[in-house]
Amino acid sequence: MSTLKDKLAAKIPDQRKRVTRLLKEHGDVKVGEVTIAQVIGGARGVKSLVTDISYLDPMEGIRFRGKTIPETMAALPKPDGKDYPYVEGFWYFLMTGDVPTKAEAEELVEEFKTRSQVPQYVFDLLRSMPRDTHPMTMFSAAILSMQRESKFAKYYGSGHFNKMDAWDPMFEDATDLIAKLPVIAAYIYRMKYKGDIHIPADSSLDMGGNFAHMMGIDHPYDDVARMYFILHSDHESGNVSAHTTHLVASALSDAYYSLSAGINGLAGPLHGLANQEVLKWLQGVMDKLDGKEPTPEIMKQFVWDTLNSGQVIPGYGHAVLRKTDPRYQSQRDFCLKHLPDYPLFKYVDMLYQVVPDILVEQGKAKNPWPNVDAQSGVIQWFYGLTEYDFYTVLFGVGRAIGVLANITWDRALGYPIERPKSLTTDMLEEIAGIK
Ligand SMILES: CC(C)(COP(=O)(O)OP(=O)(O)OC[C@H]1O[C@@H](n2cnc3c(N)ncnc32)[C@H](O)[C@@H]1OP(=O)(O)O)[C@@H](O)C(=O)NCCC(=O)NCCS
Repeated sequence: MSTLKDKLAAKIPDQRKRVTRLLKEHGDVKVGEVTIAQVIGGARGVKSLVTDISYLDPMEGIRFRGKTIPETMAALPKPDGKDYPYVEGFWYFLMTGDVPTKAEAEELVEEFKTRSQVPQYVFDLLRSMPRDTHPMTMFSAAILSMQRESKFAKYYGSGHFNKMDAWDPMFEDATDLIAKLPVIAAYIYRMKYKGDIHIPADSSLDMGGNFAHMMGIDHPYDDVARMYFILHSDHESGNVSAHTTHLVASALSDAYYSLSAGINGLAGPLHGLANQEVLKWLQGVMDKLDGKEPTPEIMKQFVWDTLNSGQVIPGYGHAVLRKTDPRYQSQRDFCLKHLPDYPLFKYVDMLYQVVPDILVEQGKAKNPWPNVDAQSGVIQWFYGLTEYDFYTVLFGVGRAIGVLANITWDRALGYPIERPKSLTTDMLEEIAGIK
């Protein structure tokens, strides 16, 4: 067994005891109340999920296993000479809550390599799809097609399924998937946008380094990949991709079914696709201005035109956050260091100056501040990844790390099938006293 799996096995019994105690001794304690607005309004703010992988404070932003983004980046081991941590070490951290040593992270780097071989039929499937298929459709289909490899599904079908042991094959599937996703993503990218010319993996590199290599983009894109995958990994469990993955897995569907479903949710324009929408929108602005630097007045006009035509400003607003997303801030810091004078960055920065006031004046959005998606496309564009249709796939590789950690722990703690209760409109009217 690997060090990580050993560690996980050692931690599960204590966590089970905590959950059992809460259920058995305090199960009747109320967590909150639910209003009609929350029932109709997408369960916004209803406290009905549990995860220890990350927590999203409305004012502070995300903490992974109790650590803020800067704390996480500072604590985790990094490849020699690099600014951002091993993604493999981050997976260890999300799974256990413990910061791995460099040796532990590097043991995982080696283990991921042994799991990274993608079956040929996945490439055959991708090649059989029309080339103009959206890369998220390809990514999700590739994940789903590998379901036949699932160790969890085999264990379930073995006739000896034991709920208490189900985390083990789920962990195996999760690790297999994370190791393969960068290879699949790079393949989709090179097939669709780089003349179908592929770059084989380099076995001397870690996940971030190898991804940059297979994409054909030089340093510091390897650090961009490490940063990007870590930043996009998890945002507690109520967002669409995380919740969908958890929901599907709660039916004891395996990691392939569950992750593919979560990725489909990430493909929505109100969720992960917003990062492509930001770039599309900004390109429209730049085209109209013929590349000239916009004044704040011109930018304000574009923002108002977008709102008045009934569209949202992509990259702004959030269901939980009520301040600038620290994931935005983290990428902004990267831009200030590596591309401070890049025109597209200046556009994004000007948006930051004008959009919040306009959204406040419009009076609809509860959070006028930027989220992660407002900044991420600029960095990609700068390093030559201008095919913005692809951006959500990058998000998806990162998001997989968080949601797969979650469903592994779901099985470790024996969480049941999810089944909230619905009411009819008549019933709500009766509850409201208007019927
Ligand atoms: C993220 C998002 C889906 C959250 O939705 P939400 O929780 O319903 O947000 P709110 O409660 O603030 O929404 C209240 C109203 O403000 C509007 N609003 C929210 N963000 C807005 C934005 N960026 N631009 C314009 N209007 C916005 C909503 O559409 C809603 O309008 P409605 O009452 O006419 O339906 C929303 O802010 C949005 O669409 N943002 C743009 C897309 C985006 O960046 N997504 C990535 C999120 S990480």
